[in-house]
Amino acid sequence: MSRLFNLRAVGGPWWPQKKPWRTAYRGVIADEFLDAMSEDDRTNRWLEILQRPEHATFVAEIEGHGIVGFANGGPEREGRQDYRGELCGLYVLSEWQGQGIGRQLVATFASWLLDSGFDTMLVWTLADNPFRRFYERLGGKLIAEKDIEIGEQKLDEVAYGWDDVTTLLERKTP
Ligand SMILES: CC(C)(COP(=O)(O)OP(=O)(O)OC[C@H]1O[C@@H](n2cnc3c(N)ncnc32)[C@H](O)[C@@H]1OP(=O)(O)O)[C@@H](O)C(=O)NCCC(=O)NCCS
Repeated sequence: MSRLFNLRAVGGPWWPQKKPWRTAYRGVIADEFLDAMSEDDRTNRWLEILQRPEHATFVAEIEGHGIVGFANGGPEREGRQDYRGELCGLYVLSEWQGQGIGRQLVATFASWLLDSGFDTMLVWTLADNPFRRFYERLGGKLIAEKDIEIGEQKLDEVAYGWDDVTTLLERKTP
């Protein structure tokens, strides 16, 4: 990876969000909902997330290929005391997965959390998302479950937590 940098606010649609999101959640979220999402909806949601002053977004950029992944988050959103930071979004383009980029993005985000005074972290993900195993591989432990509604569909979400985000900073031997 050529560089990772902090992108706190951007002035335009810098990430082809709709298609990756559709692909990643096909089979998990209802087709009707995925197909009905407009490009504007996704772009506006992104601009809103990126402009949250307390949040940080890191992107992975590869020379000659542009941005191939991102991690975004900030303080935990429900006021928990046990897990104070929250990874809200993480994505690596499918053709770049499995090369350590996701792990590096999480490490960079964890480092920012520590610098911001948070030494614990959680992440919510859909229970049916096969990629949740990635968080287990990074040492996250299952700490909570809840139901959410996406469109008219009821789905389960699970949360993984890290009691010490320093464990995410450098690669641990398995
Ligand atoms: C989850 C995701 C971010 C992982 O990124 P990545 O760059 O492919 O992951 P890495 O190459 O850094 O993998 C790090 C470790 O996790 C493991 N891993 C990655 N994906 C995994 C999976 N689906 N199941 C089990 N282990 C996985 C890797 O084998 C690797 O292990 P190792 O380094 O100890 O050998 C990426 O697959 C993705 O964007 N998926 C679609 C969107 C998504 O589900 N996002 C997260 C939920 S909100």
